[in-house]
Amino acid sequence: MSTVAANPFGSPADLHRVLADLRRQSPVVEVALPTGSTGWVVTRYEDAQRALGDPRLAKMTSAGGFSYRDMIPEDVARAVGRHMLALNPPDHTRLRRLVSGAFTARRVAALRPRIEELAEELLDGIAGADEVDLIDRFAFPLPIQVICELLGVPAEDQADFRRWTDAIVTGPMNPAGLPPALIAIVGYIRTLLAAKREQPADDLLSALIAVHEQGDRLTDDELVSMVYLFLIAGHETTVNLIGNGMLLLLAEPARWARVVAQPELLPGTIEEVLRYEGPVQNASFRTATEPVELGGQIIPEGALVLVALLSANRDADRFAEPDRLDLDRPAIPNLAFGHGIHYCLGAPLARLEGQIAFGALARRFPDLRLAVPPEEIGWRSSLLLRGLSALPVRPRG
Ligand code: HEM
Repeated sequence: MSTVAANPFGSPADLHRVLADLRRQSPVVEVALPTGSTGWVVTRYEDAQRALGDPRLAKMTSAGGFSYRDMIPEDVARAVGRHMLALNPPDHTRLRRLVSGAFTARRVAALRPRIEELAEELLDGIAGADEVDLIDRFAFPLPIQVICELLGVPAEDQADFRRWTDAIVTGPMNPAGLPPALIAIVGYIRTLLAAKREQPADDLLSALIAVHEQGDRLTDDELVSMVYLFLIAGHETTVNLIGNGMLLLLAEPARWARVVAQPELLPGTIEEVLRYEGPVQNASFRTATEPVELGGQIIPEGALVLVALLSANRDADRFAEPDRLDLDRPAIPNLAFGHGIHYCLGAPLARLEGQIAFGALARRFPDLRLAVPPEEIGWRSSLLLRGLSALPVRPRG
């Protein structure tokens, strides 16, 4: 008989120590969640990979123990619950196929010049400053501008977005903020779609509207949900790749000096940052559709499952010296972008944005320094993501 363990995700500063204890002592364990329900946390690499590939651990929008669904209008609940990450095959397969062409390595590579231009513009804006918050001025606006341009969304609504997406990703920790944010973002997406219908352009939103209008391949809710997923998945994560990565690189000035001197290290640096302090703490919740044996435990039917990606990527059975950030680490795939049918659709775009962001910072600000000691930099509280609240830096050293 298992007993329910304490919520391991309560203290972001302590997270890696808590996860290391779980990997050692109870790698598959039922824990209390801040949502009031319980969930099974999977912390070792091999178990995590198996869990993500197991169709018996499926997406179930009705499960999850979140009370917010009762607190928002029915149509809003439907409009945020019909995207590919919330669904199983065959709906998942159909929705993913509709947009996968926009995210091939070739299509994404074509975005490079525009992303570089956006990065340069943002860095122009901080060049004269003594001290800035790099999250606020760079890590946050760059990915949102990229995803907005890809979709065809006017970027002037960034401040609203930031408020809504913040409330949404911290939702499980702070359920009161979630309903108004969901209602607002769905209203916003509907207005946006109406405007695009009036004035179609050469962008992903217009392409999706055309698919929607041509036949039965995309319902109304699925269209709104798809845009919702891109807006959330497409930037909150990449903000953290840039933020977490820059903290790690600047925490040791010699490390930053190396990246400045050897830009060829960037692709490997991105992979190591993704492994060591990836943007996604836990994969989105799965539910056991039947009893599932994992790591010697039986996860009962109906139980919620959290696959701890951040923990799996520090598993010593998979990675030598996992708690050391090693920019020269030989490339072994990790789970930062997930695994299986929901493997991140935006991975090529995220990697490209990361390389452009780190590269542009290194070129423009070789003397960049943290403005406070690294241990004073705080993590946001979230059940799903891993990211900083702020990253104060001095651009000119
Ligand atoms: C460093 C940045 C990123 C990281 C670490 C990341 C990570 C992930 C992970 C772990 C998943 C799987 C979640 C699960 O199985 O529960 C996922 C799915 C997804 N990501 Fe990303 N992501 C990033 C950036 C992006 C970007 C830039 C986009 C889009 C433009 C994007 C779009 C998606 C979509 C659409 C899915 C759902 C795929 C499906 O259900 O088939 N992501 N991402």
